[in-house]
Amino acid sequence: MAASTQVRILDQRTPEERDRPFLPGAGKNWLLPFYDVFTRMGGVRALHERAAGLASVQPGQAVADVGCGTGNLSFTVLAAQPSARVTGLDPDGDALRRAARKARRRGVALRLMQGYADRIPAPDASFDHVVSSLAVHHLDDDGRSAFAREALRVLRPGGTVTIADFGAHSSEDEDGGHSTHGHGRVHALRHLPWLRRSGAAHGPVGDGAHDDGIIALLADAGFADAREVAHTDHRFGRVAFVQATRPRLD
Ligand SMILES: C[S@@+](CC[C@H](N)C(=O)[O-])C[C@H]1O[C@@H](n2cnc3c(N)ncnc32)[C@H](O)[C@@H]1O
Repeated sequence: MAASTQVRILDQRTPEERDRPFLPGAGKNWLLPFYDVFTRMGGVRALHERAAGLASVQPGQAVADVGCGTGNLSFTVLAAQPSARVTGLDPDGDALRRAARKARRRGVALRLMQGYADRIPAPDASFDHVVSSLAVHHLDDDGRSAFAREALRVLRPGGTVTIADFGAHSSEDEDGGHSTHGHGRVHALRHLPWLRRSGAAHGPVGDGAHDDGIIALLADAGFADAREVAHTDHRFGRVAFVQATRPRLD
């Protein structure tokens, strides 16, 4: 794609959704300009690379990046598989405009839609992959359940959802298992005070309610073999990589 090619943002919000509140990526709108630099300094890129590697997108496949923010996971997927057809979805118009500018600068084809995870504006069975990084903890309980159902709906049978998000430690960590830094999950947020203040450190992140909650939500929504496929003790906290597959039709 030529660098001059337009990257459009489709506003897919309903009139009611236009006034709907959401927790932005850095917690406050005014912090958005610092989001990319702080997450880059914080090593979030490695999480995106791990998620993209686990998703293993094949040539020409359609991918939805839910809660795409400024587009970093989408760009990582596109770097790994340039012929993928990637659509980023986020309610934050400012973050999407940043993603669009980055896509134009890089000369990559990225579709961007403004909307919410609990009503993915796409037809049934229209994606091969749903991916999402550090966005599920921005959703409330109902939003997470609805996201799981929507991810199932928009995936074709056999399609895969790959989610990277904060999760509490498991028995493996207690055994000294795969933990890379050997510390707990939330105190590490002190390294990024803006993230802690953002509210991202509360609720599902801070209290561990997210534990295997997303696995259960995916299973409840009808996914097969929802499981944690990897985790890392990132400096923001423990990040779990969860995958599940939409069952094939009999
Ligand atoms: C911490 S940022 C992560 C952004 C990006 N995925 C990344 O890894 O850099 C969380 C994102 O979730 C988005 N978000 C918040 N509420 C949402 C919702 N209801 N549906 C979809 N995305 C939402 C925010 O606007 C923000 O861009």
